[in-house]
Amino acid sequence: MTGIRIRVEPVDDAVPKSLPKELGFGRVFTSRMFTRRYTAEKGWHDAVIGPYRPLALDPAAEVFHCGQMIFDGTKAYRRPDGNLNLFRVEKNAERFNNSASRMAMPKVDIGEHVQAISELVRLEHAWTPKQEGAALYIRPVMIATENTLEVRSSRDFLHYIILSPVGPYFSGGFKPVSVFVSDQYVRTVRGGTGEAKTPGNYAGSLTGTEKALAAGYQQVLWLDAVDRRYVDEVGAMNIAFVYEDKHIRTPALSGAILPGITRDSLLKLAPDLGYSVAEDRIDIREVLRDIEAGRITEAFGIGTGAVIAPVGRFGYQGRDYAFGSGEPGPVAQRLFKGLTDIQYGRAPDPYGWTRVVKVASETRATTATGA
Ligand SMILES: Cc1ncc(COP(=O)(O)O)c(C=O)c1O
Repeated sequence: MTGIRIRVEPVDDAVPKSLPKELGFGRVFTSRMFTRRYTAEKGWHDAVIGPYRPLALDPAAEVFHCGQMIFDGTKAYRRPDGNLNLFRVEKNAERFNNSASRMAMPKVDIGEHVQAISELVRLEHAWTPKQEGAALYIRPVMIATENTLEVRSSRDFLHYIILSPVGPYFSGGFKPVSVFVSDQYVRTVRGGTGEAKTPGNYAGSLTGTEKALAAGYQQVLWLDAVDRRYVDEVGAMNIAFVYEDKHIRTPALSGAILPGITRDSLLKLAPDLGYSVAEDRIDIREVLRDIEAGRITEAFGIGTGAVIAPVGRFGYQGRDYAFGSGEPGPVAQRLFKGLTDIQYGRAPDPYGWTRVVKVASETRATTATGA
């Protein structure tokens, strides 16, 4: 196999002594990180896995002014045999490159990016927490590092990857969340950067999210920016609605929606579990009417973090539309189980989505006590 040469530097404290009980999501980081630099002259070079440490950047670095930056997120899951599964990591790398193109940044070689993730995960696998629903979250990032205040694409970049042991995404566990439908703020717009994973989309969503939290909701449903009528996404997840316990509808990718890998996986898995699926333009007013009429039996967010986040209530223009029993619905439960069984290697993977990272058996023995 060809690949890049990654220099591995020694680290102190390579294996965690113990992880906090409440891991939260992305608050604890492992001992090592991957870094690699890009210059116009040399291309990508100097790949290193070294100690996790602060970055030293000039205050004029372009990332701080233009926000020329991308990131992504994927997870490694502990298998029953103690090895780890990466889930659709090449697809995640493709999305990283699509984001790079949209933000005028250099692409990475998909094989090299996956090699860097695999090497880092293999070295850091002991950080993978053991409790149900936990995983090792993988955060690849690329930032513009040229020192300039000019508004043009940087010539220098840093590509880095960090890992975080994570517990379940929502502290309340697999329970329906309340969702505020935002008709004041929008997340992004067709032709904008919504289909790229770039921080501006997220920074711009914070005011709307804070207001929704203050009003007693947990997440925001984003509508399209032009008509403020068609459903885009929920929080940092895609969304799906279930009609009469059997038909699943999700907004079609419009250019403003991030093409979620979990969404794509569920669109392939759900028909095999007996559900029909459709990608559509979905009008929020129609959704709320269908909830009231009892036609929509479930709704859920879909993403790597939560996998499935059932919705129990939408708030729109001063009215609440609650549905379901207060527990995740049967379709959400079935899809959650179907997908997580593949991710954790508890069920066969007929789709070829998982890639095993083999970990040394002597270190595995101390950590593989049931994912
Ligand atoms: C805005 C947004 N939508 C959807 C998703 C879900 O994508 P995925 O299933 O690939 O995690 C994410 C997470 O990356 C996101 O940030």
